[in-house]
Amino acid sequence: MIAIQGLLWSGDYGNIDRPINAKWSENVSRVLPIATVTAALGEWASGTGPLYRRLADGLEAAVDHGRIPIGAGLPPERHLATALSVSRSTVVAAFDALKRAGRLEARQGSGTWVRGHARPPDEGNLELVEELEGHAILRDLSGRPTQTVEFTAAAVDCAPEVTTAIVGLSGDEVSMWSRGHGYSPQGYEGLRDVIAQRLTGMGLETNTAQVLITSGATQAVLLTARLYLEPGAPAVLETPSYAGAIDVLHAEGARLLSVDMDSSGARTDQLAELMTRSLPRMVYLVPDFHNPSGVVLSQRRREEVARLAADYHVPVVEDIVQRELWLDEPPPPPIATFDPDAPVLTVGSMSKVFWGGLRLGWIRGSETTIARLARLKAVDDFGTPAIAQLVSAKLLPQIDTTAAWRRTELRRRFEVLEDAVARHLPEWTCPRPAGGLSAWAKLPSPCADELVRRAESHGVAVVPGSTFAVDHNRHTDRLRLPFVAPPHVIEEGIRRLARAWAEIDGRDTVMPPQSVVV
Ligand SMILES: Cc1ncc(COP(=O)(O)O)c(C=O)c1O
Repeated sequence: MIAIQGLLWSGDYGNIDRPINAKWSENVSRVLPIATVTAALGEWASGTGPLYRRLADGLEAAVDHGRIPIGAGLPPERHLATALSVSRSTVVAAFDALKRAGRLEARQGSGTWVRGHARPPDEGNLELVEELEGHAILRDLSGRPTQTVEFTAAAVDCAPEVTTAIVGLSGDEVSMWSRGHGYSPQGYEGLRDVIAQRLTGMGLETNTAQVLITSGATQAVLLTARLYLEPGAPAVLETPSYAGAIDVLHAEGARLLSVDMDSSGARTDQLAELMTRSLPRMVYLVPDFHNPSGVVLSQRRREEVARLAADYHVPVVEDIVQRELWLDEPPPPPIATFDPDAPVLTVGSMSKVFWGGLRLGWIRGSETTIARLARLKAVDDFGTPAIAQLVSAKLLPQIDTTAAWRRTELRRRFEVLEDAVARHLPEWTCPRPAGGLSAWAKLPSPCADELVRRAESHGVAVVPGSTFAVDHNRHTDRLRLPFVAPPHVIEEGIRRLARAWAEIDGRDTVMPPQSVVV
């Protein structure tokens, strides 16, 4: 807990009281001598954790205890590094961490300065919340009570089997599962066993201790991010990538790096380069019917990813939540099958075949890694609700039947979408994805953001390609079009999109076509 002293609210938070502690303000605008800073730091290097983090903590403690005044300037990074006998990059990383935390600020041309607390603690991490709130997908998940056609969530309605399984639960089943206190951070053995068997059936030999039950694949990604990342740590994703994963890694403070995709999936030549250049702490990939592009990672590239993970000891999280949803043919085996010793974590979920409302996912990894993740899971929520686990254990043995029904539905709905786009928006292309729940439509010019804004007034909500970009200003000529709604809704949505498109098509505001396409 940081003791609050010398509060200097920044000006951006409205009309709030601004207690300014005169004790600190008299020190403003003075660069401290190196000897003062090193004395104030004291025994900063003792303890555990990365050196830069210890230095950041030491500086923060020195400010909290008044040994370094708020408003003071710090010596240049290089000089401080020499005085502390550490590399310059350690000081840069410590300063960066404190800048992100709002404790230091860089001033153009005049170095690094100690900030007052940027805002009252009861406002929380406003920047992050605002950033996430601005996210089109989250906005839509929280409800849009209108006649709007939703092309936002690539998520399925509840399969009838889910209701049947819930209604059909027997008293014996419930009392067997409700024995004991009900907290089970790693998840119920019966369910872990079913998942282990299913993964083994895919060629990925798995025992029960290698499976952790999570509250959706979302929590699985979050836990892996917590295990492997710290603020500023590099993490690699495909671009475009699943927006939920971008948000999770971003919220964990990761520095996001990206690899491009082509028709064989993530570019492993770029991944290999990043392994040597940046040594990422974690890689997140969607090899099976990638969201949003629908592309499958080829078998050869899966082998390469497994090899890179093993060679560099870099954990790769493969998100296979859409694995069962092929339109034409099943995908190659999971990445983890290609090297049993590679640090590959395989993430699955009930959401895409059965229902997102179950909030049930899992992670498969080495027993050691799963035990570590289970500790983090316990901190998060003490375990996924028992009732969701019980229902999932009943449903999973019949996943092949439900998935076959889903695939038939999805093929039909994609064809409706493809046909509607061809008729109403002939200048767009809507390539058939290999599988999944959405098409990655291509517009003739990079104006998807503007189109999305206009579409709203025509009663259709859609997510622009830029939402899935790891780097800014990419995929601006793309729209993700889920084909999960009933056919007549898809048809109506495309008709409305065509009206919005007619407004901007051919206008001066449309920029020239972009050459970079994934
Ligand atoms: C690739 C991918 N991973 C994870 C999720 C989220 O899964 P869950 O509902 O299990 O959290 C989604 C949902 O859209 C997804 O497309």
